[in-house]
Amino acid sequence: MDTLIVERSGPLRGTVEVSGAKNASLPIMAACLLTDEESVIEHVPQVTDVNTMAEILRVLGVEVEWQDEQVLIRPGHKPSWTAPYELVSRMRASVCVLGPLLAKHGRAKVAMPGGCVIGSRPIDLHLEGLEALGARLTIDHGYIVAETPRLRGTTIHLAGAFGSSVLATANVMMAATLADGMTVIEQAACEPEVVDLANCLIAMGAKISGHGAPLIRIEGVSRLHGTHYRIIPDRIEAGTLMIATAMLGGDVRIHGAVPEHLGAVIGKLTEANVSIESLDGCVRVRSDRKLKSVDVTTLPFPSFPTDLQAQFLAMMSVSQGVSIVTEKIYPERFMHVPELKRMGAQITREGASAIVKGVERLSGAPVMASDLRASAALVLAGLTADNSTQLHGLEHLDRGYEHLEQKLTRLGARLRRINSASQNLSVGG
Ligand code: EPZ
Repeated sequence: MDTLIVERSGPLRGTVEVSGAKNASLPIMAACLLTDEESVIEHVPQVTDVNTMAEILRVLGVEVEWQDEQVLIRPGHKPSWTAPYELVSRMRASVCVLGPLLAKHGRAKVAMPGGCVIGSRPIDLHLEGLEALGARLTIDHGYIVAETPRLRGTTIHLAGAFGSSVLATANVMMAATLADGMTVIEQAACEPEVVDLANCLIAMGAKISGHGAPLIRIEGVSRLHGTHYRIIPDRIEAGTLMIATAMLGGDVRIHGAVPEHLGAVIGKLTEANVSIESLDGCVRVRSDRKLKSVDVTTLPFPSFPTDLQAQFLAMMSVSQGVSIVTEKIYPERFMHVPELKRMGAQITREGASAIVKGVERLSGAPVMASDLRASAALVLAGLTADNSTQLHGLEHLDRGYEHLEQKLTRLGARLRRINSASQNLSVGG
């Protein structure tokens, strides 16, 4: 088991390049199931979740081959329709093979995702959307079994109690590309990753309009072809690096960060006294570490993303004043709070909000990562804390951040990975 040793650091200086978006790569890889032809997907991050999606595609009879940072995806002649529990239980995003399998083969058997550490994550919207397109669905021994002689376009309303759903929009949009007639998705998710998927599907021959807004129209076509497509930069990684610079101080140019994808984050960082400038192809972040507390509420895009809530909360823990951080997507997504409190943060939970009173300095401690974004928050907290912090549970960090330690190290941060089993030290950088 690896442990990350994080030392007090800063300021950060230099340039850094954002990797491709994990949350765009996963549904786009699944979309390659919709064609018989080879696709080449560029700018795919080498993270565990992407490897899990590659494993699922292989089980479904697809060849997946890495060539540097691009992935070649070739559907085979002996397709399978079953995504097994062993793989689906590792990553909930596996459920987005359901729509493509159903549309392409008329059948799919996908393990029902189970519980999730960031809170209740139902898939009712995925299932209702596919049923509306004409799929017959049953739950059998923990598997969703879906069948249809032919999907038919219709109007589908996709909002749940917490607003639109990113992957339900992705699943229904992918299925509708090969359905008979026109599908209209109302209350569709507007996240950049959904737009990226739509653009990739269009490059494969799909007829889609309205993506990026809550009403998406998809006119079914009889077949899709292979494509060569480049994934957008990861806005959550970019936001994490922006918050790191804000907390540690310094002057960093983040190449590939797309300001239009980060409007709410840039707004909140500016309010907190961080200087953000959009330059050609990069975002420049400057901070003197004198941060002001600001309130933040997570909501679907274009509002502040839930996937940056933990990192922002870590920043508020060392800002001047009191802030209220409210989670409106996953009201229980606060597992990082007890760990930050172990480091001296002053945080009180009240339902879906955390009230954070900024402290002068955190103190390093052994902490445990509970999910991907919580682990990033603990890394940032450790970099501002006295002494050293030992972060355990690195498998969470590795699910979604490509070379985060190396990137931070090159900017001047001090952190290194220790393989506790062999006592080998591997310095990130
Ligand atoms: C995507 O998950 C992301 N995952 C998540 O990223 C992200 O936190 C989330 O969107 C919200 O932005 C990927 O893209 C792979 P949702 P998704 O369906 O699509 C409720 C990360 O750290 N809901 O948009 O599964 C749901 O419970 C991760 O990278 C239903 O009620 O999330 C939540 O409250 C983790 N019924 C809200 O909708 C459904 O059928 C939004 O979830 C589906 C969702």
